[in-house]
Amino acid sequence: MMTSSEIRQAFLDFFKSKDHKIVPSAPIVVKNDPTLMFINSGMAPFKDFFLGNQVPPAKRIADTQKCLRVSGKHNDLEEVGVDTYHHTMFEMLGNWSFGDYFKKDAIAWSWELLTEVYKLDKSKLYVTVFEGDAKEDLAFDQESYDHWKQYVSEDRILRGNKKDNFWEMGESGPCGPCSEIHIDLRDAADIAKTGGAELVNTGHPQVIEIWNNVFMEFNRKADGSLEKLPAQHVDTGMGFERLCVAIQGKKSNYDTDVFSPTITRLEQRSGIKYGTSEKTDIAMRVIADHIRGYFLHNCRWSTTIQFRCRLCDSSHTP
Ligand code: ALA
Repeated sequence: MMTSSEIRQAFLDFFKSKDHKIVPSAPIVVKNDPTLMFINSGMAPFKDFFLGNQVPPAKRIADTQKCLRVSGKHNDLEEVGVDTYHHTMFEMLGNWSFGDYFKKDAIAWSWELLTEVYKLDKSKLYVTVFEGDAKEDLAFDQESYDHWKQYVSEDRILRGNKKDNFWEMGESGPCGPCSEIHIDLRDAADIAKTGGAELVNTGHPQVIEIWNNVFMEFNRKADGSLEKLPAQHVDTGMGFERLCVAIQGKKSNYDTDVFSPTITRLEQRSGIKYGTSEKTDIAMRVIADHIRGYFLHNCRWSTTIQFRCRLCDSSHTP
C-alpha cells in the first residue's frame, strides 16, 4: 500500500514528468491581499499570475499547498470532525498552467494520474462539467464534456450548476467553470442498491470529490460583473487527505496514515478507544485535525522536511 508520503511524491513526480516546475507551499497567512485572510486554495498564492499582474516563474507549476478553510467564502469549520472528510488545514495538490495548456491536457493528465499511476478503479469514478448559467451568460462546457467522453462513459459525466461547477476564489478574483472528479468508496452491496451517480455532490461521506480542475477564464470584479482574463489558465486542486483515503482503501481520512498515528496517541493519552462513541470520535477527530493544522501552520516545511511531533514524539513527514 502506498504511504501518504509516497502518494504526495508521486503527484509531484508525475507533473515534473509533464514539464512542471515544482515549488514549495506558500505560507498559510496571506499578506498584502485585503480580500483574503488565509490561503484557502492552491491557487491563492498565484492570484496575480492569473490576473496578469505578475509573470510566473514558469508556465507550468505543481505543488502541495497548505490551505485553511475557516472563514470567508470557503469555510469548512462546522464540518470538521462531525464528518470524516473536511479539515481546517488540509493539503491541496495542484498543477497550474499560466496561459499554457488548457482543458484537453488537464483532463487527460488527471485521468492518467488517477487511473494509471494511482491505479484507482475506473468504475468508481465520476466526473462533472459545468451546465452553464443563463443569468451570467455562461455556456455549457461542451469542450470538457467532449474531452471526458474519450475516457469515461457518458452516464458518468454529470452536469453541475454554478454552485458546484463554477469555481470562484472569493467575492472577487479569478474564476471559471470547473470539472470535478468524484469517487465512490462504498461497498459493493451499497452500490448495488443506489448508483454512485445519484450521490455525487449530495454530501454522502463515501461519495466524495477528490479533484477539481478549474478553467480560469474570468475575473469577478468588485461590482459582481465578470470580465474575461487576458489569457486562459488551469488551476487544479486535489484533496491530499481524501486521495489517501481512496488509494489506501479506507473509509475515513482519519483512518489513513496521515491521521492514524495521532488518533492512536490520543487513545493512549485519553484512555478512550476511537470508534466506541460518536461523541468522543468527533472530539478526537477535531483534536487530530487541529493538531495537524497547528504543526503544519507553524513549521516552514517543504515537501521533504521531517518534523518531530510533540504529541507522539516521532518524526513525521507532514
Ligand atoms: N481552486 C480550486 C479549488 O480550490 C481547484 O477547488
